[in-house]
Amino acid sequence: MTYARIVSTGSYLPSNRVSNHDLEKMVDTSHEWILSRTGIENRHIAEDHESTSDLAEKAAISALEAANLSPDSIDLIVIATTTADQVFPSSACLLQDRLGIKGCPAFDVQAVCAGFMYALDIAEKFIRTASATRALVIGAETFSRIIDWKDRSTCVLFGDGAGAIIVEASDTPGIHTTHLHADGQYKDLLSVPVGVSKNFNKVVNGSAFTQMQGGEVFRIAVKCMEKVAEEALEANGVDIDSVDWMIPHQANMRIITATAKRLGIPMSKVIVTVNQHGNTSAASIPLAFDVAVRDGRIKPGDRILIEGFGGGFTWGAAFLTY
Ligand code: COA
Repeated sequence: MTYARIVSTGSYLPSNRVSNHDLEKMVDTSHEWILSRTGIENRHIAEDHESTSDLAEKAAISALEAANLSPDSIDLIVIATTTADQVFPSSACLLQDRLGIKGCPAFDVQAVCAGFMYALDIAEKFIRTASATRALVIGAETFSRIIDWKDRSTCVLFGDGAGAIIVEASDTPGIHTTHLHADGQYKDLLSVPVGVSKNFNKVVNGSAFTQMQGGEVFRIAVKCMEKVAEEALEANGVDIDSVDWMIPHQANMRIITATAKRLGIPMSKVIVTVNQHGNTSAASIPLAFDVAVRDGRIKPGDRILIEGFGGGFTWGAAFLTY
């Protein structure tokens, strides 16, 4: 039996770090309000000339270097993003060209903040069915481009960045199970309700902005994150005590702590980066993964539960051995 195993991680954050105090100069807010409601202190914002594939490229190179692999050994590229560089070609194709890789499948996946869970699930299935042997799976976002920087209820929450994971075929289990869900009835609670085929003029005049009913999103996110984590544990016949690390989507510290409490996992086993990254949407999980690998918390053999939640709503989890 062929399994899919994570062999390395990488990430990239734009150098422009924006603090809560910086935001106080832009909208009617305060460091104290943002910190107490979200746990966020800083976020990184891409420069005008930096696009999603620029961030993805840097994260990809850092993951390739970490495993001492050359780009031409990659035979699948999946990028989870809501903020692709262009309508087409996909950011994955743009990255493929930059990395000098020719011929392998490359495509984007759009499931907003749960996008990385979807991308990882797809790559895992490609590898398990022998359609690929080594995949570059990336979450990359310039979410700042779809934020109204005059709207204090959303602009304080999000940031830009990219995280990359290399997954390859292995005789020993790495990713044990993946679990994906979506429920489109919640489409209006968190959205950018314009696009190529609807109200395109708003895209053209630069007012394609994120809209959110924060309280409702919060309530449903906590429920879904708890339920999908339990689904993953049950599928593997393990309880929460056997999880070494939980890496949740980094949207809000209060969502993370509420989910951890419901699941009965101590915060000392939960990887948290939302305080320094904000919500980087599809990039948040691989970014947090890379931070914890590089600072030595996550070690080979650790059992890890990752879970995401985003607009749609979409949500998912995976249980894996690193
Ligand atoms: N600074 C100061 N005040 C703000 C503010 C800001 N940045 N943003 C909103 N407010 C105000 C609102 O205008 C509102 O004022 P009003 O009561 O006078 O109308 C008030 O704060 C709302 O406060 P409260 O109800 O206590 O907020 P909250 O505890 O629900 O927190 C969120 C708001 C957005 C932080 C919270 O609902 C949340 O995190 N939701 C989930 C969002 C999320 O993670 N989305 C992505 C999921 S992938």
